[in-house]
Amino acid sequence: SDNLGINSDGNLTVGGVDTVKLAEKYGTPLYVMDEQVIRNSLRQFHDSMNQYYSGNGEVHFASKAFSCMEMCRIVADEGDGLDVVSIGELYTAYKAGFPMGKVGFHGNNKTNEELRLAIEYGVGHIIVDNISELHRLEAIAAEMNAVPHIMFRIKPGIDAHTHDFVKTGQIDSKFGFALETGEAFEAVKEAVNCKNVKLYGLHCHIGSQIFDIAPFEEAAKVMLGFISEIKNKLGFEIEGLNLGGGFGIKYTGKDDPSPFETYIKRVSAVVKSECDRLGIKLPKMFIEPGRSIAGPAGITLYTVGARKEIPNIRTYVSVDGGMADNPRYILYGSEYDAIVANKASEERSEKVTIAGKCCESGDLIGENMPLQHAESGDIIAVCATGAYNYSMSSNYNRLQKPAVVFVNNGQSRIVVKRETLDDIIKKDI
Ligand code: LLP
Repeated sequence: SDNLGINSDGNLTVGGVDTVKLAEKYGTPLYVMDEQVIRNSLRQFHDSMNQYYSGNGEVHFASKAFSCMEMCRIVADEGDGLDVVSIGELYTAYKAGFPMGKVGFHGNNKTNEELRLAIEYGVGHIIVDNISELHRLEAIAAEMNAVPHIMFRIKPGIDAHTHDFVKTGQIDSKFGFALETGEAFEAVKEAVNCKNVKLYGLHCHIGSQIFDIAPFEEAAKVMLGFISEIKNKLGFEIEGLNLGGGFGIKYTGKDDPSPFETYIKRVSAVVKSECDRLGIKLPKMFIEPGRSIAGPAGITLYTVGARKEIPNIRTYVSVDGGMADNPRYILYGSEYDAIVANKASEERSEKVTIAGKCCESGDLIGENMPLQHAESGDIIAVCATGAYNYSMSSNYNRLQKPAVVFVNNGQSRIVVKRETLDDIIKKDI
């Protein structure tokens, strides 16, 4: 992406910083996040909301893509909100001083402890997933003398992952209330009369890494249809519409995402025209981009160790990380681009398998990856690793989680320390 460059030493740069120097200074494996890319992506979303939806919206960064206190501070500084999905993400936001009124609390199976803490912290919305959660929340809120604002997570029946999104199979999801069984309507009917929760909005999320805008438009239509039904049958006006996240990013040359602006423009137009047609007032719009904010901002730096050429089969280039810091290839077969950072100006003349160091054959970063000739001691940068890498990392094989470094305007700073060996045994008795 265009935040990457090559300097006069032929080294890859990110945010104006030499990645080979970053590897020397902080060690590898290393997560590097470009702060300007994060900020620019957030701005593209909220500026588009201002332009095409009269500013009647909030952008909530989905913490699950990448959460640490510094990230929360940056999102807060941009004036945006957060989607959190566990007590850990909630606590991280709270400890970072995040304005809790702009936090939406998700989860398909929240514990009572989580619900209590969300109320205590005063989160903006709790996104209620199922009827037993509604009942538990009501009881807890009554105990605490609170009236939390809620949204209901709805299954809009859009499957964005089939080629032309079909309206089947939607009932088979662990998330949210189904529309067509009447389950969602019954929940709304009940919530409207609850004393200890205020029904504020409806939420849906149709999937992740989606390139097509049409399924988002379709989901918005379905949701507005339901809002209109609620108004007509119950005389109750839903104020907020949360359309979730899911906007795809470019991992390799095969991916061709639309600009965020186009998405907001088209979805805003559909929401406005549907509200007109149905005679309902424009809801406040919420979106929850995760990958599209954090993904393109990140790269992971590794040091090359072994190189194994298996004649006529493949060449393995092994690095000092792998599935423990990036489980996405072994989980989803996700593809990434990689560059030898200290040979960035050379041709990517080979196709190799980048392997990790875990005791498991499937521990790969990718196969058939175009790469410069990589040898022991070289630094490899894997691109667009900012989302669902650090947040999904593990200590498999008792590896220490890498540090996270932010770069900005030619400067670098550490925001999450590398785990130490004592961190590895810290909780052992
Ligand atoms: N809102 C809700 C309710 C979600 O469930 C998700 C993602 C998001 C927002 C953010 O979606 P995004 O804009 O990042 O696509 N681990 C997988 C991705 C799982 C996404 C789960 N939900 C991966 O590495 O590809």
